[in-house]
Amino acid sequence: MLPPVLAIDGPSGAGKGTVSRLVAKKLGWHYLDSGSIYRALAIAVLQKAIDVADEAGIVEIARTMELAFACADGLAVTLDGNDITHQLSLETTGNTASMIAVLPAVRAALLEKQHSFRRMPGLVADGRDMGTVVFPDAPHKIFLTASAEKRAERRYKQLIEKGVDANLSRLLLDIQERDRRDSERAAAPLLMAADAVFLDTSEMPVESVIAEVLRLINK
Ligand code: DC
Repeated sequence: MLPPVLAIDGPSGAGKGTVSRLVAKKLGWHYLDSGSIYRALAIAVLQKAIDVADEAGIVEIARTMELAFACADGLAVTLDGNDITHQLSLETTGNTASMIAVLPAVRAALLEKQHSFRRMPGLVADGRDMGTVVFPDAPHKIFLTASAEKRAERRYKQLIEKGVDANLSRLLLDIQERDRRDSERAAAPLLMAADAVFLDTSEMPVESVIAEVLRLINK
C-alpha cells in the first residue's frame, strides 16, 4: 500500500508552509515543500543566466541538478553541493520560480523528485498542484487560502522580522501578479481539487488552522 498523503494546496502566502510543517511534525510524517524545488531550479536558471522561456534548457537543468534537503523539513537546502538556503526565500527567486513553473515540460521533469518524498508513515505535501496532479490519489486534500491583502501583510511582517526591507503595496502587487500567473497557466494551474476541503485562514490564527487540519485528518 502506498504511504498516505495530506495535500495542502493554495496561493503564495496562505500559510501553507507553517501549517504543513507543524502538521507533519505532529503526525510524525515527512514533509515536501514543492515550492522549494521550483525555487531551487529558479536559482540554477538565474545562476546560469538561462532565459526563463528556454524550456529545453531549463528541463536539462531540472534533470541534472543535485538537490539535497539537509533536514526533512527543508531547513537547509544545497544545489549541486552549494548552500542555497538563504537565496530560496528571496522575492526574485519566487518570481522566477513562478515564471518557469508555467512550462509543462519543466513541471513533468520535476514530478519524479516530488514523488520520491512519499514514504512511510506518510507525507504532508505543500504546493499548488499536490492534490490535482502530483498526488491525485491523496486521501486527504486541503485548499488553504486567505485574502491577497492578508497574505501581503503576513509576508511583510515576516520580511521585517528577518530585517529585510519591504514595501507593503509592492508586495500586494507581486502577490496579485503571482496569483494571476499561477492560476491562469495552462499546465497544472492553481486549482482546488474537487475532493479538497476549502479553508480560508484570513481571520484564523495558525493554531486554529492546525487544529482544524488535524480534525479533518482524524475524521
Ligand atoms: O510556494 P512557493 O511560493 O515557494 O512557490 C514558488 C513558485 O513555484 C510559485 O509561484 C509557483 C511555483 N510552484 C508551482 O508551480 N507548483 C508547486 N507545486 C509549487 C510551486
